[in-house]
Amino acid sequence: MTQDLREHLVSYFEEHHALVEAGALQLLLTDRQPLLLSRSLLENRPVDSPFVTREMVEEAMRRRAPSALPVAGGLRTVARPDDVLASVPYAVLCEGFTGPPVASDPLAAYSALFRSRYRELARMLRGRPDLGNLRPIRELRSGEGSASVIGIVREVRATQKQHLLVTLDDETGSLSVLVPRDTSAARTTILGDEVLGVRLEIPRERGRLPRVVAVERPEVPVTRTVRRAATHRRAIFLSDLHVGSRSFLSEEWSRLAEFLHGRGPMPEVAASIDHVVVAGDLVDGIGIYPQQERDLAIADVVEQYAELGRKLAELPARLNIVVIPGNHDAVCPAEPQPGLPEALRAQLPPNVQSLGNPSTFALEGVVVCAYHGRSFDDLIPALPGTHYGRPTDVMKRMLSMRHLAPIYGDRTPLAPLPRDGLVIDPAPDILVTGHAHTYGADRYRGVLLLNASTWQAETEYQRMRNITPVAARAAVVDLATLELLTLDFSGTAPPAGAAG
Ligand SMILES: [Fe+2]
Repeated sequence: MTQDLREHLVSYFEEHHALVEAGALQLLLTDRQPLLLSRSLLENRPVDSPFVTREMVEEAMRRRAPSALPVAGGLRTVARPDDVLASVPYAVLCEGFTGPPVASDPLAAYSALFRSRYRELARMLRGRPDLGNLRPIRELRSGEGSASVIGIVREVRATQKQHLLVTLDDETGSLSVLVPRDTSAARTTILGDEVLGVRLEIPRERGRLPRVVAVERPEVPVTRTVRRAATHRRAIFLSDLHVGSRSFLSEEWSRLAEFLHGRGPMPEVAASIDHVVVAGDLVDGIGIYPQQERDLAIADVVEQYAELGRKLAELPARLNIVVIPGNHDAVCPAEPQPGLPEALRAQLPPNVQSLGNPSTFALEGVVVCAYHGRSFDDLIPALPGTHYGRPTDVMKRMLSMRHLAPIYGDRTPLAPLPRDGLVIDPAPDILVTGHAHTYGADRYRGVLLLNASTWQAETEYQRMRNITPVAARAAVVDLATLELLTLDFSGTAPPAGAAG
């Protein structure tokens, strides 16, 4: 039987050690964003009870301000329980963007954002056997021996002897801990603003720092429910179209459109494709980098979206096309980004669903998290051994942190929303990104990782930054098995590429 939203919610609560009563589930299913509401329920659940009751759902619905509801154009969620109990080919589970910031004081707004991040990720870490004697920072005493804390990383710096000094914050205080070099705990790179659990040895002597014995990340649970479609329907994953750029690959795009119409190679595969996902940078935008106007074929951003609409209309109208914005799109660049404004959405065909960046949705019951990937610009310089040629390595780390863009104050602007919409929850079956203009696929703890390819050739700017794109590849995924077929429309190889 095809997985439906009901099963997603039940397994979501199970993952978080909560039991949802039938009446509560029924009510949750009537909500526009059931998963977002479920998260709020878990956050506000009494610590001593594993149950989620109908009264708790009613209370959560009352608590939520109407302005916090996302209003992305084209949002398709199922409103009636009868509908959702049947299998649904497409359902939005949650968008990262939950409305404009509500606090007028930026400091208060960012505090709320980081508190939300801490609470959501700490919830995933609590109860781990490897985090014994878990204590709030304020309650730690010298001579405690072995204890654990969960903290958000405020600072990491090396001592003169190349040990690491890490400052962690929780909601009760701040703590400096030492990660001695050449220990197993020193093997992982600790990033600013990520949420970690650490097991500590606290020395008896006053003034000596607690030592980190082990580091635990929120992680994708190995025991999670694996979701698969009931039939071999497929989805195709694309990114970084950059329509409006002189380097948009229109010939390659035409080949893709012909293929999807069943007029190219492997028509039986084309006929099984129901969904298209585009992971951002739908158009090239304007003023994104110095002297971009020299690279533009269309210098008006509304016209760029009109052309995007024409390009998407070249694909079969039966397809469900899900698009999210990227850093080149005409929405606020701070993440999470909202979906396209109505004026731009109106330029796109009616079979296009415009969601925010990031967004989590189900395709034939398979949960997809789509994120453009701007945070590669921060994570790649911060994580030794990673590079733009293999963004899937960075995506593994995102899943391990259960966060798409933890680093604050660098190249990825973060919006101070009351809920951290960049937390990865639930763990998806497919995580798709773009931004790197390369192509990559890998797997991590049962999650299929896709860095979808671009449909833009190399620009002068990329040449300057030493980025060689791998363009016009399409990732075709069988939603019943998550098997991947890579199709190459670049014209440099036979169009029907290798499975991988
Ligand atoms: Fe791009």
